[in-house]
Amino acid sequence: MFQSLSTLPADPILGLNQVFQQDGNPDKINLSIGVYQDAAGKTPIFSAVKKAEQLLIEKQKTKSYIAQAGDPDFLEGVVRLILGDALAADINERVSAVMTPGGCGAVRMIAELLVEASTSGRVWVSNPTWANHYPLLESAGLTLETYTYYDTATNKIDFEGMVAALQAIPKGDTVLLHGCCHNPTGADLTPAQWDQVISIVAERELMPFIDVAYQGFGDGLDQDAYGIRSAIERLPEVLIASSCSKNFGLYRERTGAAIVVSESARAANAAKSHIMSAARRCYSMSPYHGGGIVGLILSDDGLYQEWRNELETVRNRMNLLRDQLAKGLNDVQSKIDFGFVGDSKGMFCFLGIPRESVLTLRSEYAIYLLESTRINLAGLSEKNLPIVIERVADVIQR
Ligand code: LMR
Repeated sequence: MFQSLSTLPADPILGLNQVFQQDGNPDKINLSIGVYQDAAGKTPIFSAVKKAEQLLIEKQKTKSYIAQAGDPDFLEGVVRLILGDALAADINERVSAVMTPGGCGAVRMIAELLVEASTSGRVWVSNPTWANHYPLLESAGLTLETYTYYDTATNKIDFEGMVAALQAIPKGDTVLLHGCCHNPTGADLTPAQWDQVISIVAERELMPFIDVAYQGFGDGLDQDAYGIRSAIERLPEVLIASSCSKNFGLYRERTGAAIVVSESARAANAAKSHIMSAARRCYSMSPYHGGGIVGLILSDDGLYQEWRNELETVRNRMNLLRDQLAKGLNDVQSKIDFGFVGDSKGMFCFLGIPRESVLTLRSEYAIYLLESTRINLAGLSEKNLPIVIERVADVIQR
């Protein structure tokens, strides 16, 4: 049966990470996949996560199924984290949430919902967007189109272009926005730009679909939720795909949530029933472990505070490395002004160097970044930063 199949090309992110893992160069540097690393180059387990996990193992009396939608503490906690306490309480009836296998599971479950509910079946994504948005959404049966977002000539958001593009989207289509820490560019909308985008979404009667995978990695948990909360305050319906991979460091647990804000409790419940039915036909229900951990952290004041503090340390470290990279690159060369690197938010930014330079960094120096020039700032360290600066400057000046 499989004789006729040819092997598919590797995933652009996971595949490159695999090539890195197999590279025998002892000085190799991984700036490809979005995984946080500390000064020792390790991806630590948050201590709040470790404590919650121990607690969960001690408390757990059965391995029987949990509710079909997922752990209630997790769902309530994640909704409050994203919406904020006040908004979550205000619109409680109009929100429904389902636990999913990671942020990818959430994007996919919302895609399944859109296939059933959206009349056009079209979703507009930013140009560029996270590479995996395409297979996740298109294989569900949706058609993807792009709206103008990032200008590689200026290394900034082309906001005028974005506004014009959004204004031309047909009524009823879905627009996928990155809640914060845009992946891959690190270029985020300002609050004023969010306000304008939300006005267009309202005027054009578009369906906003916000993917939030890095809450707390930009300016802070509340600041990073500005766009989502404003959208909910001003629009009748909002779809949210959320991930706990990065901000709880739960990469392998696959923990996320598909959240639907609807016009009425009835519609929110109907949407939830469709998501649960899609999950049932794909994988029945989400795995529990990661959600159980997050649910414990978000429902315990001590663990919550500990996690927030740890997240702040992670954010501050990434911001320091970002500033040092931008300054260091500008100190040693004048071909490219890397000031925009210092303005980026979250884990990623584009480096804006020629593609050949990306390939030379990989082949000559075993420094891995995506061909789009996206780098994972959290792959930098006090130790490898001077090397990265020297070698990037070298390849772009050849
Ligand atoms: C990334 O963008 O590198 C991460 O979100 C990991 C992934 O699954 O692609």
